[in-house]
Amino acid sequence: MTASSKGLKALVYDAYGTLFDTSSVVERCEHHFPGKGSAVSDIWRTKQLEYTWLRSLMGRYENFWKLTESGLRFACKSVGLELTDDILRDLMENYLKLAPYPEVPDTLARLAGKIPQAVLSNGSPDMLSQVVENNGLRSHFQAILSVDELAVFKPSPRVYRSAIERLGLGAGEIGFVSSNCWDAIGAKSFGLTVFWINRFNRPLEELGVVPDHEIRTLDEVEPFFE
Ligand code: LAC
Repeated sequence: MTASSKGLKALVYDAYGTLFDTSSVVERCEHHFPGKGSAVSDIWRTKQLEYTWLRSLMGRYENFWKLTESGLRFACKSVGLELTDDILRDLMENYLKLAPYPEVPDTLARLAGKIPQAVLSNGSPDMLSQVVENNGLRSHFQAILSVDELAVFKPSPRVYRSAIERLGLGAGEIGFVSSNCWDAIGAKSFGLTVFWINRFNRPLEELGVVPDHEIRTLDEVEPFFE
């Protein structure tokens, strides 16, 4: 075991963009809105996240499923598109069927034999359990933790604290894995050991905090646990 993984007793993963690839959402948007799919999906994802932060700051929590729908409604309005009930249903259901990134299932299966694993996500409990079950990944996780019972979203330190409380571990004992740089920084700021999967070679956010490890794909976590 390397020095950096010494003392870690669980790996905790973000879900959307980290384990599950949200790019199929772009394709589905393009199917319904030819030529405007990428504009809609860009605004949709931006608003989905923005609404989590705004509602957390306002103290007006609504679950991630509802905020995802609100973000989609705003995206269509801002691009001047009509969102019918059928299109809304189809695009929302896409979130329940997202595929994992190619290396994710095998890596989770191998790591499951070495260290307890859990998910810690902004997603609402139903969304999370469906996407995890639909991909046959449930058995790899000891727990699927949603922010829902806390009624606040990441990167609130309350969320990262809840992981140590719910898993019964200390902050220094959890390795947190996220592709979302702001989430990786939030977890590091709280005090977890953080692996940032920088899948798309993005610059580090200028927030004055640096994750412990920067990797490209999930399987690059494995050498830390050999
Ligand atoms: C999540 C979002 C942030 O799964 O990706 O929590």
